[in-house]
Amino acid sequence: MAIGHPVTGLSDPDLVDTTITPSVAPVRIPRERYTSTTFAAMEAERMWPFAWQIACTIDHVPEPGDFFEYVTGNLSVLVVRGDDGELRAFLNSCPHRASAICTGAGSGLEELRCPFHRWAWDFDGTLREVPSRKGFGAGFRTEDHGLAPARVDTWGPLVFVNPDPEAMALPEYMDGMWHDADWAGLMEFHADAAISVPAPANWKVVAEGFSEIYHVQGIHPEMLPTIDDIHSPQRLWTHTGVCYQQYGLPSPRLRDVTDEQVWEGMVATQGARFGAADGDPLPEIPEGQTLRDVFAQRVRDVQAARGVDMSGYTVDEIMNLSQYNLFPNATVLIWGDMVNVLIARPGATPDDAHLVMFLLHRRPEGSPRTRVEEMSLPAGTPLGLVIGQDVELLEGIQRGMHQARPTHVVMSSEEVRAINLHRNLERYLGISPSQMQPLGG
Ligand SMILES: [Fe+2]
Repeated sequence: MAIGHPVTGLSDPDLVDTTITPSVAPVRIPRERYTSTTFAAMEAERMWPFAWQIACTIDHVPEPGDFFEYVTGNLSVLVVRGDDGELRAFLNSCPHRASAICTGAGSGLEELRCPFHRWAWDFDGTLREVPSRKGFGAGFRTEDHGLAPARVDTWGPLVFVNPDPEAMALPEYMDGMWHDADWAGLMEFHADAAISVPAPANWKVVAEGFSEIYHVQGIHPEMLPTIDDIHSPQRLWTHTGVCYQQYGLPSPRLRDVTDEQVWEGMVATQGARFGAADGDPLPEIPEGQTLRDVFAQRVRDVQAARGVDMSGYTVDEIMNLSQYNLFPNATVLIWGDMVNVLIARPGATPDDAHLVMFLLHRRPEGSPRTRVEEMSLPAGTPLGLVIGQDVELLEGIQRGMHQARPTHVVMSSEEVRAINLHRNLERYLGISPSQMQPLGG
């Protein structure tokens, strides 16, 4: 059944309400995928080097000479802004003896220079200097020793890389997602924080936790009075998917919820957005308005105090969340006033990941891009109520994956975006026929 776009209200014939028409059948998926070093090695060989992935934000590399080293598993991709202002990316490995060219992040580069034997390249990866070049013989050709290019592109303020120079372009990879959030004016968002924290589970466990809202009724009791977790239409493109969620109203799972309970839940889970703290009383709801209208106006007020004019944004644009999932490992949450990015990067073993979060807010038009520093937090650092509830479960899930039986996890049609992760994974790994089995089949 076709429905209008849940954020913009525009007619959208392709959008399917999966609460009415589940488009993907429930499946069983082998648990081995989450624990096996062989499977992780297949991912490292056949998937990660060929997938588009979010490396950083443009706030990490705003000026010529800025660089950022993107590391995930064994991959290291160097993102650098050249003196011509262009972003470029290279596999971070010296053609001579493989040293990383740059590590971490920084600024002020005038060239790319390997710290090991001091070979140097222009920002476009062309070799410009080799100390004691004669020793490499007369056959040494400059053009054979450029840096290996990777693909780089941006979507709003997010910087994506693909280690494969032959990869399809990012707009094609993102498909319908590419234009789906045009209404949000994404370039107005700047990164305020970039946080990395160890996550004690396979990267897919982490990513899948941000690919469904079925678990809201399980582990987020404070959220339940604040979200319609039932009528949340989802859509899949090939590598991407989305779930649109209404906030500021109670779950249909609950009965007789008062405005006070909705208010308290919203304050507990996202009070900073509308300038409220625990204990603040429910404000008066003006005649003819709803609580959602009140929340939205308070968000506009908070933004106005920061110099950001959100008077043109509708209640739906402010109060409805678009939760995008991008294969392989990223979730992008877009509200009218806030963008959060959650990335699950593989760790040293199949049992370890890093959860990387980018928190972005609008800035007044014309605000300069200022560098955002990466914050690496130790495991167990409190991360906020809702995300803390998500992270707390990871260790127990991963241990559960290691138990001898059952041999498979089960996913419902409501968990289509997690199922889609596995469909893509099978495609990249060349697993055919699918190891996913229909439930009851
Ligand atoms: Fe959650």
